Amino acid sequence: MSSPETTELLTDSYGRTVRSLRMSVTDRCNLNCIYCHNEGHIGHNKEMSVDTIVNIVEVGSRFGINRLKISGGEPLLRKDLEEALMRLPEMRDVSMTTNAVLLKGRASSLKDAGLDRVNISLDTLNPDKYHTITNCGKGIFDKVLDGIHEAVDVGLTPVKLNMVLLKDLNDNEIKDMLEFTREYNGDVILQLIELMDFRDLPQYRINANEVERSLMSVSSDVKVRELHKRKKYIINGAEVEFVRPVDNTEFCANCNRLRVTAGGKLKPCLLVSDNMVDVSEASVEELPDLFRLAVSRRVPFCKS
Ligand code: 5AD
Repeated sequence: MSSPETTELLTDSYGRTVRSLRMSVTDRCNLNCIYCHNEGHIGHNKEMSVDTIVNIVEVGSRFGINRLKISGGEPLLRKDLEEALMRLPEMRDVSMTTNAVLLKGRASSLKDAGLDRVNISLDTLNPDKYHTITNCGKGIFDKVLDGIHEAVDVGLTPVKLNMVLLKDLNDNEIKDMLEFTREYNGDVILQLIELMDFRDLPQYRINANEVERSLMSVSSDVKVRELHKRKKYIINGAEVEFVRPVDNTEFCANCNRLRVTAGGKLKPCLLVSDNMVDVSEASVEELPDLFRLAVSRRVPFCKS
């Protein structure tokens, strides 16, 4: 390993240094959410092997990438996740975004394999609405609650609940969700997400400024996070973040992540699909130049 002084960082032509990987490990999903953006890419390729996953992260980490978020589809549909996690290099933060349907019974093995924490998609506490949003069978909602509970139990914390705000569907539930998180005494954090309307659902678009104003009015404190300049509100002791990816120049200006598709392509931006760099067959020797190429193609989608 090179010393920190000699590490080559991956900085794009806009001065943004890549510090994190968001890696999709499968396009398959056991839910079918009405608004899903499919990570900006529906692939029909063979899923990356564990070897490929490990090689990509290994080379990324040599370039100073110290955070990894595993996503899908639904990553827990891969049975070899623990194996992959066990073989990853030491990183500052390894997390996973999951719908938690399959988390119960597996949280502990994931933690043991090196996963630090999870983000869990949960848009509502109402089982009927959960069913409407995710198009899944009844009974799934309870599995998700069990999954959250177990994640907290084994220390995959802080557990962040991803709640995509949908106008007139769940936007009246912020208070209830906060109450739900409070019961976990800081181990569960609510993360509100502005809908990116990939599927032409204008009826669900919320007014983000209005949401922000109403959060502000009930907060005792507001903190600004470095990543994406996200705001963190403290409301009666519970922490809420609001992620605003839509038309947000600050969001793009502060973007420090490189995406990897399930088929093994480096993807410079969620919203752009014609500039990906295929690394699915690349050797460890070939990977560094392919990383450099992908990073040279990074352009802020939203510019000021
Ligand atoms: N808009 C905003 N967030 C989305 N997600 C998925 N689709 C969208 C969308 N259209 C987020 C959800 C989910 C995670 C996997 O991706 O927060 O938890």
